Amino acid sequence: MEDKERNILITEEEIRQKVKETGAQITEDYRGKKLYVLSLLRGSFIFTADLVRAIDLDTTIGFMTTSSYGHSETSQGVCQVVYDVPDNIEGYDVLIVDDIIDTGITMEFVINYVKEKGAASVKVCTLLDKPSRRKVQVEADYCCFEIEDVFVVGYGLNYGDHYRNVPYVFNWK
Ligand code: IMP
Ligand code: MG
Repeated sequence: MEDKERNILITEEEIRQKVKETGAQITEDYRGKKLYVLSLLRGSFIFTADLVRAIDLDTTIGFMTTSSYGHSETSQGVCQVVYDVPDNIEGYDVLIVDDIIDTGITMEFVINYVKEKGAASVKVCTLLDKPSRRKVQVEADYCCFEIEDVFVVGYGLNYGDHYRNVPYVFNWK
């Protein structure tokens, strides 16, 4: 893929700092709770890896995949489980971790799914939030960066098969 001039939106250092702060806040909020970090693949794998190392608590970490954008840039409007939570999460304080909340359709689906599985509590942590794009009402309890309506990649976020491993977030267009 052609390498365009990159318009970096969020640098590695900014991410490092914010992830550290968010992890510290989660540590405070979840002390004495039964934390289960539920990371949504594939987009949040890098964020999750950094975030859990900034959380100074005992935690279970599990992954789940839902159907998402695929190679298209716009939401399909439907969400399905592709890879299910591997554990019984009943009674756990589940923190759902994702790369970005866009229309909110994915997150709304996962929140309801986790509630149905009997979680004691459900909260949401996202690296990025595009509130201007919302189609359903979903709010993050922890959000590292709020951004405008631009398509971004890097630090786990992709376009097609590209850019997930780039260590910063940049504006793709
Ligand atoms: P939602 O269901 O519309 O909120 O979409 C959530 C998912 O869409 C995210 O987990 C991403 O995988 C994908 N997505 C939304 N916006 C972007 C973007 O700007 N870059 C890359 N992926 C995105
Ligand atoms: Mg995703």
